[in-house]
Amino acid sequence: MAVLDPDKEIPQHIAIIMDGNGRWAKARNLARRDGHRAGAESVEQCLKACGDLGVKYLTLYAFSSENWKRPEAEVTALMGLLAQFLKEKTPSLMRNNIRLQVIGHLARLPLKNQKQLQDSIAKTAQNDGLTLIVALSYGSREEIVDAAKRLMEEAKAGTINPADLNTETFSRYLYTAGTPDPDLLIRTSGEFRVSNFLLWQISYAEIVITETLWPDFRHDHLVDAIAEYQRRHRRFGGL
Ligand code: FPP
Repeated sequence: MAVLDPDKEIPQHIAIIMDGNGRWAKARNLARRDGHRAGAESVEQCLKACGDLGVKYLTLYAFSSENWKRPEAEVTALMGLLAQFLKEKTPSLMRNNIRLQVIGHLARLPLKNQKQLQDSIAKTAQNDGLTLIVALSYGSREEIVDAAKRLMEEAKAGTINPADLNTETFSRYLYTAGTPDPDLLIRTSGEFRVSNFLLWQISYAEIVITETLWPDFRHDHLVDAIAEYQRRHRRFGGL
C-alpha cells in the first residue's frame, strides 16, 4: 500500500465508477448478482475507509440510466440489493454520522426503493460527517438537459435573464447543486471510459483507473488512488 503525504491534501470529494462486478462473478463461476452482492460489501468498506481518511463527499455510480437495458432479473437483483443495503445500513449511517443523498431520475425506481430512499435521506439529513451520494438511474447528459429545460422555463417566465447565465449559475440547476465538484474520479476494472457520469462536474478532477475489480476494492486500494492523486499537481488550467 502507498503512503499518504501528510503535507498534501486528501481529496474532499471522491467519485467512483464501481465496475467489474460481472467479471468478478464470472471468474468464480458465480451469477452476476453474486458479483453485485460482493460489490455492496465493497461499498460498506469504502464508506468506512472514507470516514477514516476524512473524505467529505463520496459519490458512487450504482445504476446508470443505461442500466435499465440489462436483463430484468439483474435489474431486480440490483434494486433488491439497494433495498437490503438501506434496510441494514441506515442505522450504521446514523452511528457513523453519514448523510445520504441521491442523484438521478428517481421516479423511474420501484416505489419501494423510492420510499426507502426518502426515509433514509430524511433520517440522515442532519449528519455532518461524510456525505454519501448514490447515483441511481443517473445519466449526466440527461442531468444537463434537465438543467437546461428548467433554465428555459425560468427565462420564459422572466425570472432569469439569459445574459446573466454563467457556469456558476448553471451548476445550481444540476442534481449536484450545493456539492463541491469531485477532486478525484476512480474507475475500477481497468476501463478507460467516463460512461455518462458527472460530465460537467469532473472538468478538473484527477482520474485514477485501477485494474482492481470493484468487489475486490478495499481500504488499501483507496489509499493507493489518493496517493496517486497527491503525486499529481493540479493547476486548474493555470501554470
Ligand atoms: C458495474 O459492474 C456495477 C454495477 C452496474 C452496479 C453497482 C452496484 C453495486 C456495487 C451494489 C449495490 C450498490 C449499493 C449502493 C448498495 P458490471 O456489472 O458492469 O461489471 P462487468 O463490467 O464486469 O460486467
